[in-house]
Amino acid sequence: MSQTRKKPEELRSHRWYGVKDMRSFGHRSRTAQMGYHRSDYAGKPVIAIINTWSDINPCHTHFKQRVEEVKRGVWQAGGFPVEMPALSLSEPMQKPTTMLYRNLLAMETEELLRSYPADGCVLMGGCDKTTPALIMGALAMNLPTIFMPAGPMLRGDYKGKYLGSGSDTWKYWAELRAGNITEADWQDVEDGIARSPGHCMTMGTASTMTSATEVLGLTLPGAASIPAPDSRHAQMATLTGKAIVEMVWTDVKPLDFLTAASFDNAVTAVLGLGGSTNSIVHLVAMAKRAGINLTIDRFDELARQTPVLANLRPSGAFLMEDFYYAGGLRALLGQLGDLIDGSARQCNGRTLAENIAGCQVYNAEVIRPRANPLVAKDGLAVLRGSLAPDGAIIKPAAMEPRFHKHTGRAVVFKDYNDMAARIDDPALDIDATCAIVLQSAGPQGAPGMPEWGQLPIPQKLLKQGVRDMLRISDARMSGTSYGACVLHVTPESHVGGPLALVRDGDMISLDIAARRVDLLISDDEMARRKAAWQPPPPKFTRGYGVLYLKHIQQADKGCDFDFLEPEAKQAGTGEPEIH
Ligand code: FES
Repeated sequence: MSQTRKKPEELRSHRWYGVKDMRSFGHRSRTAQMGYHRSDYAGKPVIAIINTWSDINPCHTHFKQRVEEVKRGVWQAGGFPVEMPALSLSEPMQKPTTMLYRNLLAMETEELLRSYPADGCVLMGGCDKTTPALIMGALAMNLPTIFMPAGPMLRGDYKGKYLGSGSDTWKYWAELRAGNITEADWQDVEDGIARSPGHCMTMGTASTMTSATEVLGLTLPGAASIPAPDSRHAQMATLTGKAIVEMVWTDVKPLDFLTAASFDNAVTAVLGLGGSTNSIVHLVAMAKRAGINLTIDRFDELARQTPVLANLRPSGAFLMEDFYYAGGLRALLGQLGDLIDGSARQCNGRTLAENIAGCQVYNAEVIRPRANPLVAKDGLAVLRGSLAPDGAIIKPAAMEPRFHKHTGRAVVFKDYNDMAARIDDPALDIDATCAIVLQSAGPQGAPGMPEWGQLPIPQKLLKQGVRDMLRISDARMSGTSYGACVLHVTPESHVGGPLALVRDGDMISLDIAARRVDLLISDDEMARRKAAWQPPPPKFTRGYGVLYLKHIQQADKGCDFDFLEPEAKQAGTGEPEIH
Protein backbone atom coordinates (compact mmCIF):
# COMPACT_ATOMS: atom_id res chain seq x y z
CA MET A 1 0.00 0.00 0.00
CA SER A 2 1.10 3.54 -0.68
CA GLN A 3 3.40 5.16 1.88
CA THR A 4 3.15 8.61 0.31
CA ARG A 5 0.43 11.15 0.94
CA LYS A 6 -1.58 12.75 -1.79
CA LYS A 7 -1.39 16.46 -2.46
CA PRO A 8 -4.72 18.34 -2.56
CA GLU A 9 -4.41 18.94 -6.29
CA GLU A 10 -4.09 15.16 -6.78
CA LEU A 11 -7.52 14.54 -5.29
CA ARG A 12 -10.12 13.30 -7.74
CA SER A 13 -12.46 16.08 -6.57
CA HIS A 14 -9.92 18.68 -7.67
CA ARG A 15 -11.32 18.26 -11.20
CA TRP A 16 -14.68 19.50 -9.93
CA TYR A 17 -13.61 22.11 -7.38
CA GLY A 18 -9.98 23.08 -7.95
CA VAL A 19 -9.60 23.96 -11.62
CA LYS A 20 -10.29 27.42 -13.00
CA ASP A 21 -12.93 27.08 -15.67
CA MET A 22 -16.60 27.81 -16.11
CA ARG A 23 -17.87 24.37 -15.07
CA SER A 24 -15.95 24.40 -11.80
CA PHE A 25 -17.47 27.85 -11.16
CA GLY A 26 -20.82 26.04 -11.34
CA HIS A 27 -19.69 23.31 -8.93
CA ARG A 28 -18.41 25.87 -6.41
CA SER A 29 -21.32 28.31 -6.69
CA ARG A 30 -23.84 25.50 -6.23
CA THR A 31 -21.94 24.17 -3.22
CA ALA A 32 -22.14 27.70 -1.83
CA GLN A 33 -25.89 27.54 -2.49
CA MET A 34 -26.02 24.63 -0.02
CA GLY A 35 -24.51 26.86 2.65
CA TYR A 36 -20.90 25.74 2.49
CA HIS A 37 -18.09 28.30 2.42
CA ARG A 38 -15.14 27.53 0.15
CA SER A 39 -13.02 26.89 3.24
CA ASP A 40 -15.35 24.01 4.15
CA TYR A 41 -14.22 21.92 1.18
CA ALA A 42 -11.31 23.49 -0.71
CA GLY A 43 -8.38 21.11 -0.87
CA LYS A 44 -10.17 18.54 1.32
CA PRO A 45 -11.13 14.93 0.47
CA VAL A 46 -14.77 14.72 -0.56
CA ILE A 47 -16.24 11.68 1.19
CA ALA A 48 -19.35 10.20 -0.42
CA ILE A 49 -21.50 8.56 2.25
CA ILE A 50 -23.72 6.11 0.41
CA ASN A 51 -26.65 5.73 2.80
CA THR A 52 -29.32 3.05 2.37
CA TRP A 53 -31.65 4.60 4.95
CA SER A 54 -35.34 4.51 4.02
CA ASP A 55 -38.69 4.80 5.79
CA ILE A 56 -39.45 1.33 4.41
CA ASN A 57 -36.31 -0.34 5.81
CA PRO A 58 -36.69 -1.20 9.52
CA CYS A 59 -33.10 -2.47 9.79
CA HIS A 60 -31.69 0.95 8.91
CA THR A 61 -33.92 3.31 10.92
CA HIS A 62 -30.91 4.51 12.95
CA PHE A 63 -28.96 5.47 9.83
CA LYS A 64 -30.50 8.97 9.93
CA GLN A 65 -28.61 9.45 13.19
CA ARG A 66 -25.57 7.36 12.32
CA VAL A 67 -24.88 9.32 9.17
CA GLU A 68 -24.49 12.44 11.31
CA GLU A 69 -21.95 10.55 13.41
CA VAL A 70 -20.04 9.46 10.31
CA LYS A 71 -20.07 13.07 9.10
CA ARG A 72 -18.76 14.22 12.48
CA GLY A 73 -15.75 11.95 12.02
CA VAL A 74 -15.16 13.15 8.46
CA TRP A 75 -15.28 16.81 9.52
CA GLN A 76 -12.98 16.20 12.48
CA ALA A 77 -10.40 14.52 10.24
CA GLY A 78 -10.47 17.38 7.73
CA GLY A 79 -12.71 15.93 5.05
CA PHE A 80 -15.90 17.17 3.37
CA PRO A 81 -18.79 14.70 3.91
CA VAL A 82 -21.51 14.41 1.28
CA GLU A 83 -24.44 12.08 1.99
CA MET A 84 -25.82 10.31 -1.07
CA PRO A 85 -29.00 8.26 -0.53
CA ALA A 86 -29.17 5.01 -2.49
CA LEU A 87 -31.76 2.31 -3.14
CA SER A 88 -32.70 0.74 0.19
CA LEU A 89 -33.18 -3.01 -0.21
CA SER A 90 -35.58 -3.80 2.61
CA GLU A 91 -35.57 -7.55 3.09
CA PRO A 92 -38.96 -7.92 4.78
CA MET A 93 -40.82 -5.52 2.50
CA GLN A 94 -39.68 -5.96 -1.09
CA LYS A 95 -41.42 -8.42 -3.43
CA PRO A 96 -40.65 -10.85 -4.87
CA THR A 97 -37.19 -10.51 -3.28
CA THR A 98 -34.44 -7.97 -2.69
CA MET A 99 -32.14 -10.30 -4.61
CA LEU A 100 -33.83 -9.13 -7.80
CA TYR A 101 -32.45 -5.67 -7.05
CA ARG A 102 -29.00 -6.43 -5.56
CA ASN A 103 -27.28 -5.71 -8.85
CA LEU A 104 -29.34 -2.54 -9.34
CA LEU A 105 -27.99 -1.12 -6.06
CA ALA A 106 -24.50 -2.24 -7.09
CA MET A 107 -24.89 -0.34 -10.35
CA GLU A 108 -26.27 2.71 -8.56
CA THR A 109 -23.36 2.70 -6.11
CA GLU A 110 -20.82 2.46 -8.93
CA GLU A 111 -22.46 5.24 -10.91
CA LEU A 112 -22.85 7.58 -7.92
CA LEU A 113 -19.14 7.22 -7.22
CA ARG A 114 -18.21 7.60 -10.87
CA SER A 115 -20.32 10.64 -11.67
CA TYR A 116 -19.86 12.75 -8.51
CA PRO A 117 -16.67 14.25 -7.04
CA ALA A 118 -15.97 11.44 -4.59
CA ASP A 119 -12.41 10.93 -3.35
CA GLY A 120 -13.46 8.08 -1.07
CA CYS A 121 -16.64 6.53 0.27
CA VAL A 122 -18.36 5.26 3.37
CA LEU A 123 -20.90 2.56 2.58
CA MET A 124 -23.80 2.34 5.05
CA GLY A 125 -25.64 -0.96 4.81
CA GLY A 126 -26.44 -4.15 6.67
CA CYS A 127 -29.87 -5.47 5.74
CA ASP A 128 -29.08 -8.60 3.72
CA LYS A 129 -28.40 -7.61 0.09
CA THR A 130 -27.35 -4.04 0.86
CA THR A 131 -23.91 -5.21 2.01
CA PRO A 132 -22.85 -7.18 -1.08
CA ALA A 133 -24.52 -4.68 -3.40
CA LEU A 134 -22.72 -1.65 -1.97
CA ILE A 135 -19.39 -3.45 -1.97
CA MET A 136 -19.78 -4.84 -5.50
CA GLY A 137 -20.42 -1.31 -6.77
CA ALA A 138 -17.56 0.22 -4.80
CA LEU A 139 -15.11 -2.48 -5.90
CA ALA A 140 -15.91 -1.66 -9.49
CA MET A 141 -14.81 1.94 -8.88
CA ASN A 142 -11.96 1.05 -6.50
CA LEU A 143 -11.86 4.37 -4.67
CA PRO A 144 -10.77 4.33 -1.01
CA THR A 145 -13.72 2.54 0.60
CA ILE A 146 -14.89 1.70 4.09
CA PHE A 147 -18.09 -0.04 5.18
CA MET A 148 -20.17 0.98 8.19
CA PRO A 149 -22.38 -1.98 9.19
CA ALA A 150 -25.89 -1.37 10.54
CA GLY A 151 -25.26 -3.74 13.45
CA PRO A 152 -27.66 -6.39 14.75
CA MET A 153 -30.86 -5.48 16.58
CA LEU A 154 -31.39 -6.47 20.22
CA ARG A 155 -32.63 -9.97 21.10
CA GLY A 156 -36.34 -10.48 20.60
CA ASP A 157 -38.52 -11.08 23.65
CA TYR A 158 -41.61 -13.29 24.13
CA LYS A 159 -42.91 -14.21 27.57
CA GLY A 160 -39.40 -14.01 29.02
CA LYS A 161 -37.87 -16.11 26.23
CA TYR A 162 -35.39 -14.77 23.68
CA LEU A 163 -36.63 -14.66 20.10
CA GLY A 164 -34.38 -14.85 17.04
CA SER A 165 -35.18 -13.12 13.74
CA GLY A 166 -36.53 -15.51 11.17
CA SER A 167 -35.67 -18.71 13.06
CA ASP A 168 -38.37 -18.20 15.67
CA THR A 169 -40.82 -16.95 13.05
CA TRP A 170 -40.59 -20.32 11.28
CA LYS A 171 -40.66 -22.17 14.59
CA TYR A 172 -43.76 -20.47 16.02
CA TRP A 173 -45.52 -20.43 12.63
CA ALA A 174 -45.15 -24.21 12.55
CA GLU A 175 -46.47 -24.41 16.13
CA LEU A 176 -49.45 -22.22 15.20
CA ARG A 177 -50.23 -24.38 12.16
CA ALA A 178 -49.87 -27.49 14.32
CA GLY A 179 -52.36 -25.99 16.82
CA ASN A 180 -49.83 -25.80 19.68
CA ILE A 181 -50.06 -22.02 20.25
CA THR A 182 -52.96 -19.57 20.00
CA GLU A 183 -53.49 -16.55 17.75
CA ALA A 184 -52.88 -14.38 20.84
CA ASP A 185 -49.52 -16.09 21.43
CA TRP A 186 -48.65 -15.52 17.78
CA GLN A 187 -49.52 -11.82 18.19
CA ASP A 188 -47.12 -11.61 21.15
CA VAL A 189 -44.36 -13.10 19.00
CA GLU A 190 -45.13 -10.52 16.31
CA ASP A 191 -44.88 -7.65 18.81
CA GLY A 192 -41.64 -8.78 20.44
CA ILE A 193 -39.47 -10.35 17.76
CA ALA A 194 -38.04 -7.10 16.35
CA ARG A 195 -37.83 -4.44 19.06
CA SER A 196 -34.93 -2.13 18.12
CA PRO A 197 -33.16 -0.70 15.07
CA GLY A 198 -30.64 -2.99 13.41
CA HIS A 199 -30.51 -5.98 11.13
CA CYS A 200 -31.60 -9.54 11.97
CA MET A 201 -29.80 -10.72 15.10
CA THR A 202 -29.49 -14.40 14.25
CA MET A 203 -26.54 -15.56 12.15
CA GLY A 204 -28.60 -14.86 9.06
CA THR A 205 -27.46 -13.29 5.85
CA ALA A 206 -27.03 -9.81 7.33
CA SER A 207 -24.79 -10.88 10.22
CA THR A 208 -22.94 -13.27 7.92
CA MET A 209 -22.21 -10.66 5.26
CA THR A 210 -21.25 -7.82 7.60
CA SER A 211 -18.91 -10.25 9.39
CA ALA A 212 -17.40 -11.39 6.09
CA THR A 213 -16.93 -7.74 5.15
CA GLU A 214 -15.02 -7.09 8.36
CA VAL A 215 -12.81 -10.13 7.73
CA LEU A 216 -12.09 -8.86 4.22
CA GLY A 217 -10.78 -5.73 5.89
CA LEU A 218 -13.40 -3.35 4.55
CA THR A 219 -14.53 -2.14 8.02
CA LEU A 220 -12.64 -0.99 11.07
CA PRO A 221 -11.81 -3.92 13.39
CA GLY A 222 -14.74 -4.94 15.56
CA ALA A 223 -17.37 -3.00 13.62
CA ALA A 224 -19.65 -5.86 12.55
CA SER A 225 -20.63 -7.29 15.92
CA ILE A 226 -21.78 -4.17 17.79
CA PRO A 227 -25.56 -4.10 18.38
CA ALA A 228 -27.18 -1.20 16.53
CA PRO A 229 -28.57 0.63 19.61
CA ASP A 230 -25.29 0.37 21.59
CA SER A 231 -23.49 3.71 22.05
CA ARG A 232 -20.32 1.97 20.90
CA HIS A 233 -22.00 1.61 17.52
CA ALA A 234 -22.33 5.40 17.29
CA GLN A 235 -18.69 5.75 18.31
CA MET A 236 -17.71 3.30 15.57
CA ALA A 237 -19.56 5.44 13.02
CA THR A 238 -17.47 8.47 13.97
CA LEU A 239 -14.23 6.46 13.91
CA THR A 240 -15.20 5.18 10.46
CA GLY A 241 -15.67 8.74 9.24
CA LYS A 242 -12.23 9.69 10.54
CA ALA A 243 -10.60 6.61 9.02
CA ILE A 244 -11.80 7.17 5.47
CA VAL A 245 -10.21 10.64 5.31
CA GLU A 246 -6.81 9.18 6.16
CA MET A 247 -7.40 6.36 3.66
CA VAL A 248 -7.89 8.96 0.92
CA TRP A 249 -4.69 10.84 1.78
CA THR A 250 -2.70 7.58 1.82
CA ASP A 251 -4.62 6.23 -1.20
CA VAL A 252 -5.66 2.92 0.35
CA LYS A 253 -7.98 1.26 -2.16
CA PRO A 254 -9.72 -2.12 -1.78
CA LEU A 255 -8.01 -3.77 -4.73
CA ASP A 256 -4.64 -2.89 -3.14
CA PHE A 257 -5.28 -5.30 -0.27
CA LEU A 258 -8.01 -7.77 -1.31
CA THR A 259 -6.46 -11.09 -2.33
CA ALA A 260 -7.53 -14.71 -2.72
CA ALA A 261 -6.33 -15.18 0.87
CA SER A 262 -8.66 -12.38 2.04
CA PHE A 263 -11.62 -14.20 0.50
CA ASP A 264 -10.49 -17.55 1.91
CA ASN A 265 -10.44 -15.84 5.31
CA ALA A 266 -13.95 -14.51 4.75
CA VAL A 267 -15.24 -17.95 3.73
CA THR A 268 -13.53 -19.61 6.72
CA ALA A 269 -15.06 -17.04 9.06
CA VAL A 270 -18.51 -17.61 7.54
CA LEU A 271 -18.08 -21.34 8.13
CA GLY A 272 -16.85 -20.81 11.68
CA LEU A 273 -19.90 -18.65 12.31
CA GLY A 274 -22.32 -21.24 10.90
CA GLY A 275 -23.23 -18.48 8.43
CA SER A 276 -25.87 -18.15 5.77
CA THR A 277 -25.89 -20.15 2.55
CA ASN A 278 -26.60 -16.86 0.79
CA SER A 279 -23.02 -15.80 1.46
CA ILE A 280 -21.91 -18.19 -1.27
CA VAL A 281 -23.73 -16.29 -4.00
CA HIS A 282 -22.63 -12.92 -2.64
CA LEU A 283 -18.97 -13.69 -1.93
CA VAL A 284 -18.53 -15.31 -5.35
CA ALA A 285 -19.91 -12.14 -6.95
CA MET A 286 -17.87 -9.80 -4.72
CA ALA A 287 -14.67 -11.72 -5.43
CA LYS A 288 -15.28 -11.50 -9.15
CA ARG A 289 -15.61 -7.73 -8.87
CA ALA A 290 -12.16 -7.79 -7.23
CA GLY A 291 -10.79 -9.91 -10.09
CA ILE A 292 -10.53 -13.02 -7.89
CA ASN A 293 -11.92 -16.38 -8.99
CA LEU A 294 -13.70 -17.74 -5.92
CA THR A 295 -15.63 -20.90 -6.83
CA ILE A 296 -18.42 -22.62 -4.94
CA ASP A 297 -16.10 -25.63 -4.63
CA ARG A 298 -13.70 -23.54 -2.54
CA PHE A 299 -16.48 -23.22 0.07
CA ASP A 300 -16.72 -26.99 0.19
CA GLU A 301 -12.93 -27.45 0.48
CA LEU A 302 -12.73 -24.99 3.37
CA ALA A 303 -15.84 -26.45 5.02
CA ARG A 304 -14.13 -29.83 5.30
CA GLN A 305 -11.49 -28.32 7.62
CA THR A 306 -13.43 -25.58 9.43
CA PRO A 307 -15.37 -26.20 12.64
CA VAL A 308 -18.50 -24.21 13.50
CA LEU A 309 -17.47 -22.37 16.67
CA ALA A 310 -20.20 -19.74 17.00
CA ASN A 311 -23.15 -21.13 18.95
CA LEU A 312 -25.65 -18.88 17.19
CA ARG A 313 -29.11 -19.51 15.81
CA PRO A 314 -30.21 -20.98 13.47
CA SER A 315 -27.45 -23.60 13.92
CA GLY A 316 -26.97 -22.97 17.65
CA ALA A 317 -28.60 -21.38 20.67
CA PHE A 318 -27.54 -17.73 21.07
CA LEU A 319 -28.01 -14.40 19.31
CA MET A 320 -25.75 -11.62 18.03
CA GLU A 321 -26.11 -9.58 21.21
CA ASP A 322 -24.67 -12.55 23.15
CA PHE A 323 -21.96 -12.91 20.52
CA TYR A 324 -20.86 -9.30 21.00
CA TYR A 325 -20.72 -9.65 24.78
CA ALA A 326 -18.74 -12.90 24.34
CA GLY A 327 -16.00 -11.06 22.42
CA GLY A 328 -17.53 -10.76 18.95
CA LEU A 329 -16.01 -11.55 15.59
CA ARG A 330 -12.44 -10.69 16.58
CA ALA A 331 -12.59 -13.29 19.35
CA LEU A 332 -14.00 -15.88 16.97
CA LEU A 333 -11.19 -15.21 14.48
CA GLY A 334 -8.73 -15.67 17.32
CA GLN A 335 -10.21 -19.11 18.01
CA LEU A 336 -9.99 -20.08 14.34
CA GLY A 337 -6.24 -19.56 14.72
CA ASP A 338 -4.15 -21.05 11.93
CA LEU A 339 -7.21 -21.56 9.72
CA ILE A 340 -7.02 -17.80 9.13
CA ASP A 341 -4.23 -16.11 7.19
CA GLY A 342 -3.29 -13.30 9.55
CA SER A 343 -0.99 -11.64 7.03
CA ALA A 344 -3.97 -10.39 4.96
CA ARG A 345 -3.96 -6.61 4.97
CA GLN A 346 -6.94 -4.45 5.92
CA CYS A 347 -8.25 -0.97 5.20
CA ASN A 348 -6.63 0.57 8.28
CA GLY A 349 -3.22 -0.39 6.90
CA ARG A 350 -2.65 -3.15 9.42
CA THR A 351 -2.78 -6.93 9.03
CA LEU A 352 -5.69 -9.07 10.17
CA ALA A 353 -3.43 -10.60 12.84
CA GLU A 354 -2.60 -7.13 14.17
CA ASN A 355 -6.27 -6.16 14.15
CA ILE A 356 -7.33 -9.15 16.27
CA ALA A 357 -4.32 -9.13 18.59
CA GLY A 358 -5.35 -9.26 22.25
CA CYS A 359 -8.91 -10.38 21.57
CA GLN A 360 -10.48 -12.62 24.20
CA VAL A 361 -13.45 -14.93 24.54
CA TYR A 362 -15.64 -13.93 27.50
CA ASN A 363 -18.19 -16.73 27.16
CA ALA A 364 -16.90 -20.06 25.86
CA GLU A 365 -20.45 -21.38 25.46
CA VAL A 366 -21.20 -18.71 22.83
CA ILE A 367 -17.79 -18.73 21.11
CA ARG A 368 -16.54 -22.28 21.44
CA PRO A 369 -12.86 -23.29 21.48
CA ARG A 370 -11.55 -25.47 18.65
CA ALA A 371 -11.48 -28.38 21.11
CA ASN A 372 -15.23 -28.12 21.72
CA PRO A 373 -16.87 -27.03 18.45
CA LEU A 374 -20.60 -26.77 17.89
CA VAL A 375 -20.09 -28.83 14.72
CA ALA A 376 -16.73 -30.38 13.83
CA LYS A 377 -16.91 -29.47 10.13
CA ASP A 378 -19.18 -29.16 7.10
CA GLY A 379 -21.06 -26.02 8.10
CA LEU A 380 -21.97 -25.84 4.41
CA ALA A 381 -21.68 -28.45 1.68
CA VAL A 382 -21.65 -28.17 -2.10
CA LEU A 383 -23.48 -31.01 -3.85
CA ARG A 384 -23.35 -32.18 -7.43
CA GLY A 385 -25.07 -35.01 -9.25
CA SER A 386 -27.59 -35.72 -11.95
CA LEU A 387 -30.07 -33.29 -10.37
CA ALA A 388 -27.54 -30.45 -10.05
CA PRO A 389 -24.72 -30.76 -12.59
CA ASP A 390 -23.41 -27.25 -11.83
CA GLY A 391 -23.92 -27.47 -8.09
CA ALA A 392 -26.33 -27.13 -5.20
CA ILE A 393 -25.92 -26.07 -1.57
CA ILE A 394 -26.99 -27.54 1.75
CA LYS A 395 -26.33 -26.57 5.36
CA PRO A 396 -25.70 -29.85 7.22
CA ALA A 397 -25.29 -28.07 10.54
CA ALA A 398 -28.88 -26.80 10.50
CA MET A 399 -30.86 -29.95 9.65
CA GLU A 400 -31.87 -33.25 11.22
CA PRO A 401 -28.86 -35.61 10.75
CA ARG A 402 -31.08 -38.51 9.63
CA PHE A 403 -31.40 -36.72 6.26
CA HIS A 404 -27.65 -36.63 5.64
CA LYS A 405 -28.15 -39.83 3.62
CA HIS A 406 -31.69 -40.23 2.42
CA THR A 407 -33.74 -41.33 -0.58
CA GLY A 408 -37.29 -40.07 -0.97
CA ARG A 409 -40.19 -40.02 -3.39
CA ALA A 410 -40.58 -36.68 -5.16
CA VAL A 411 -43.69 -34.57 -4.64
CA VAL A 412 -43.35 -31.81 -7.22
CA PHE A 413 -44.75 -28.28 -7.32
CA LYS A 414 -44.31 -26.45 -10.59
CA ASP A 415 -44.05 -23.01 -8.98
CA TYR A 416 -44.69 -21.11 -5.74
CA ASN A 417 -48.39 -20.58 -6.41
CA ASP A 418 -48.88 -24.28 -7.08
CA MET A 419 -47.17 -25.08 -3.78
CA ALA A 420 -49.19 -22.50 -1.83
CA ALA A 421 -52.42 -23.90 -3.29
CA ARG A 422 -51.77 -27.60 -2.62
CA ILE A 423 -49.24 -28.06 0.20
CA ASP A 424 -51.89 -28.20 2.94
CA ASP A 425 -54.44 -30.19 0.92
CA PRO A 426 -55.34 -33.18 3.12
CA ALA A 427 -55.53 -35.30 -0.04
CA LEU A 428 -51.90 -34.57 -1.04
CA ASP A 429 -50.09 -37.90 -1.45
CA ILE A 430 -47.11 -37.26 0.81
CA ASP A 431 -45.44 -38.67 3.92
CA ALA A 432 -42.46 -37.69 6.05
CA THR A 433 -39.99 -39.65 3.91
CA CYS A 434 -40.86 -37.82 0.68
CA ALA A 435 -38.76 -35.15 -1.05
CA ILE A 436 -40.68 -31.90 -1.61
CA VAL A 437 -39.55 -30.32 -4.90
CA LEU A 438 -40.19 -26.73 -5.95
CA GLN A 439 -39.47 -25.63 -9.54
CA SER A 440 -39.33 -22.12 -11.06
CA ALA A 441 -37.77 -20.45 -8.03
CA GLY A 442 -34.32 -19.63 -9.44
CA PRO A 443 -32.69 -16.44 -10.74
CA GLN A 444 -34.81 -16.38 -13.94
CA GLY A 445 -37.73 -18.55 -12.90
CA ALA A 446 -39.09 -16.81 -9.82
CA PRO A 447 -37.57 -14.39 -10.89
CA GLY A 448 -34.87 -13.16 -8.53
CA MET A 449 -34.13 -16.42 -6.70
CA PRO A 450 -36.19 -15.61 -3.60
CA GLU A 451 -35.70 -17.15 -0.17
CA TRP A 452 -38.40 -19.76 -0.68
CA GLY A 453 -36.04 -22.70 -0.16
CA GLN A 454 -37.27 -23.66 3.31
CA LEU A 455 -40.35 -25.19 1.72
CA PRO A 456 -43.28 -25.56 4.12
CA ILE A 457 -44.01 -28.93 5.65
CA PRO A 458 -47.63 -30.00 4.96
CA GLN A 459 -49.95 -29.18 7.83
CA LYS A 460 -51.10 -32.78 8.22
CA LEU A 461 -47.48 -33.85 8.79
CA LEU A 462 -46.83 -30.96 11.20
CA LYS A 463 -49.73 -32.23 13.28
CA GLN A 464 -48.03 -35.64 13.37
CA GLY A 465 -44.94 -33.95 14.86
CA VAL A 466 -42.85 -33.83 11.66
CA ARG A 467 -40.48 -30.80 11.76
CA ASP A 468 -37.97 -31.58 9.01
CA MET A 469 -38.14 -33.15 5.57
CA LEU A 470 -35.93 -33.33 2.49
CA ARG A 471 -36.75 -30.27 0.39
CA ILE A 472 -35.19 -29.33 -2.96
CA SER A 473 -35.38 -26.17 -5.06
CA ASP A 474 -33.45 -23.70 -7.17
CA ALA A 475 -34.35 -20.99 -4.64
CA ARG A 476 -32.17 -19.55 -1.89
CA MET A 477 -33.02 -19.89 1.79
CA SER A 478 -33.04 -17.21 4.43
CA GLY A 479 -29.90 -17.40 6.51
CA THR A 480 -32.18 -17.55 9.54
CA SER A 481 -33.82 -20.78 8.30
CA TYR A 482 -33.05 -24.39 9.03
CA GLY A 483 -33.92 -27.80 7.65
CA ALA A 484 -32.84 -30.45 5.15
CA CYS A 485 -33.13 -28.01 2.25
CA VAL A 486 -31.12 -28.52 -0.93
CA LEU A 487 -30.79 -25.02 -2.41
CA HIS A 488 -29.41 -23.15 -5.45
CA VAL A 489 -29.90 -26.17 -7.72
CA THR A 490 -28.02 -25.22 -10.88
CA PRO A 491 -28.82 -24.97 -13.73
CA GLU A 492 -32.22 -23.76 -12.55
CA SER A 493 -35.44 -25.30 -13.83
CA HIS A 494 -36.50 -22.21 -15.81
CA VAL A 495 -33.56 -22.67 -18.20
CA GLY A 496 -34.14 -26.42 -18.55
CA GLY A 497 -31.93 -27.80 -15.78
CA PRO A 498 -32.71 -31.35 -14.59
CA LEU A 499 -34.86 -29.91 -11.80
CA ALA A 500 -37.39 -28.99 -14.52
CA LEU A 501 -37.63 -32.65 -15.49
CA VAL A 502 -38.53 -34.12 -12.09
CA ARG A 503 -42.00 -35.69 -11.89
CA ASP A 504 -44.17 -36.88 -9.02
CA GLY A 505 -43.08 -40.32 -7.92
CA ASP A 506 -39.44 -40.09 -9.10
CA MET A 507 -36.91 -41.12 -6.47
CA ILE A 508 -34.29 -38.58 -5.37
CA SER A 509 -31.23 -39.43 -3.30
CA LEU A 510 -29.17 -37.12 -1.08
CA ASP A 511 -25.76 -38.22 0.23
CA ILE A 512 -23.94 -35.37 1.96
CA ALA A 513 -20.82 -37.39 2.73
CA ALA A 514 -20.49 -38.14 -0.99
CA ARG A 515 -21.62 -34.59 -1.86
CA ARG A 516 -24.28 -35.99 -4.21
CA VAL A 517 -27.87 -35.20 -5.08
CA ASP A 518 -29.29 -37.42 -7.81
CA LEU A 519 -32.49 -37.89 -9.73
CA LEU A 520 -32.78 -41.68 -9.96
CA ILE A 521 -34.01 -42.09 -13.52
CA SER A 522 -32.16 -43.61 -16.47
CA ASP A 523 -30.07 -41.49 -18.84
CA ASP A 524 -32.47 -42.39 -21.65
CA GLU A 525 -35.48 -41.24 -19.66
CA MET A 526 -33.66 -38.01 -18.72
CA ALA A 527 -32.86 -37.39 -22.41
CA ARG A 528 -36.49 -38.08 -23.44
CA ARG A 529 -37.83 -35.61 -20.89
CA LYS A 530 -35.22 -33.02 -21.87
CA ALA A 531 -36.19 -33.29 -25.55
CA ALA A 532 -39.86 -32.76 -24.68
CA TRP A 533 -39.20 -29.76 -22.39
CA GLN A 534 -40.54 -26.39 -23.57
CA PRO A 535 -38.95 -23.16 -22.29
CA PRO A 536 -41.46 -21.04 -20.38
CA PRO A 537 -42.12 -17.45 -21.45
CA PRO A 538 -39.91 -14.73 -19.89
CA LYS A 539 -41.18 -13.24 -16.65
CA PHE A 540 -40.69 -9.60 -17.66
CA THR A 541 -41.46 -7.72 -20.85
CA ARG A 542 -40.47 -4.19 -19.80
CA GLY A 543 -38.26 -2.12 -17.55
CA TYR A 544 -35.38 -3.21 -15.33
CA GLY A 545 -36.72 -6.77 -15.40
CA VAL A 546 -35.86 -7.12 -19.08
CA LEU A 547 -32.27 -6.03 -18.42
CA TYR A 548 -32.17 -8.44 -15.48
CA LEU A 549 -33.39 -11.46 -17.46
CA LYS A 550 -31.05 -10.76 -20.34
CA HIS A 551 -27.89 -10.57 -18.24
CA ILE A 552 -28.39 -12.46 -14.96
CA GLN A 553 -26.05 -15.41 -14.45
CA GLN A 554 -26.70 -18.62 -12.56
CA ALA A 555 -26.14 -19.12 -8.83
CA ASP A 556 -22.74 -20.79 -9.15
CA LYS A 557 -21.53 -17.62 -10.91
CA GLY A 558 -22.80 -15.36 -8.13
CA CYS A 559 -25.89 -14.08 -9.99
CA ASP A 560 -24.02 -11.02 -11.22
CA PHE A 561 -24.85 -9.38 -14.54
CA ASP A 562 -22.45 -10.58 -17.22
CA PHE A 563 -21.66 -7.03 -18.35
CA LEU A 564 -20.53 -5.97 -14.87
CA GLU A 565 -17.75 -8.51 -14.42
CA PRO A 566 -14.16 -7.22 -14.58
CA GLU A 567 -13.45 -8.66 -18.00
CA ALA A 568 -16.55 -6.85 -19.17
CA LYS A 569 -14.69 -3.64 -18.59
CA GLN A 570 -13.43 -0.79 -16.51
CA ALA A 571 -14.24 -2.54 -13.25
CA GLY A 572 -11.51 -1.99 -10.73
CA THR A 573 -9.73 0.42 -13.02
CA GLY A 574 -11.62 3.42 -11.76
CA GLU A 575 -13.49 5.06 -14.53
CA PRO A 576 -13.39 6.61 -17.93
CA GLU A 577 -12.27 10.24 -17.92
CA ILE A 578 -15.27 12.44 -17.03
CA HIS A 579 -15.64 16.01 -18.24
FE1 FES B 1 -33.08 -6.67 7.37
FE2 FES B 1 -33.18 -9.38 8.15
S1 FES B 1 -34.78 -8.02 7.52
S2 FES B 1 -31.53 -8.05 7.91
